[in-house]
Amino acid sequence: MGEDLKSRRTVFAGVGAGGLTLALAACGGSDTTTASPESGAPAESGADASSAPEAAGGLTTTAEIPVGGGKIFTEQKVVVVQPAEGRFKAFGINCTHQGCPVDKVENGAIVCPCHGSMFKIEDGSVSQGPATEPLAEQQITVEGDQISLA
Ligand code: FES
Repeated sequence: MGEDLKSRRTVFAGVGAGGLTLALAACGGSDTTTASPESGAPAESGADASSAPEAAGGLTTTAEIPVGGGKIFTEQKVVVVQPAEGRFKAFGINCTHQGCPVDKVENGAIVCPCHGSMFKIEDGSVSQGPATEPLAEQQITVEGDQISLA
């Protein structure tokens, strides 16, 4: 009995490629976004404090500035010092290292809190780095006991 196996047919069941349901209908679009361009201006109430034409200068009084020390005026960005009695000077408070505002005057030096630079009250020069440049001197006038920014 000879079985004829030649007629074996391998039938590949072709998977029909017709079943791809492309779900491209996602952009169903009646967007009801209220895209009203609200002018993002937050209530302008004209609070411009920096341009108040107050009495020009009146910064402090001589009594406020200790001999051999000084006082920092952050609003005016100036430090006023009195290196010797009756001799007043002023410097900008921004450290020449990386611009931090100096925050105290002690032991004859104006001190930056960021990296510890110190500046002499006599002339603003560096007494301790990392800063290498002196503080910028500011002009002041002293009349009687009033110290004003020039
Ligand atoms: Fe003042 Fe660095 S910014 S020491």
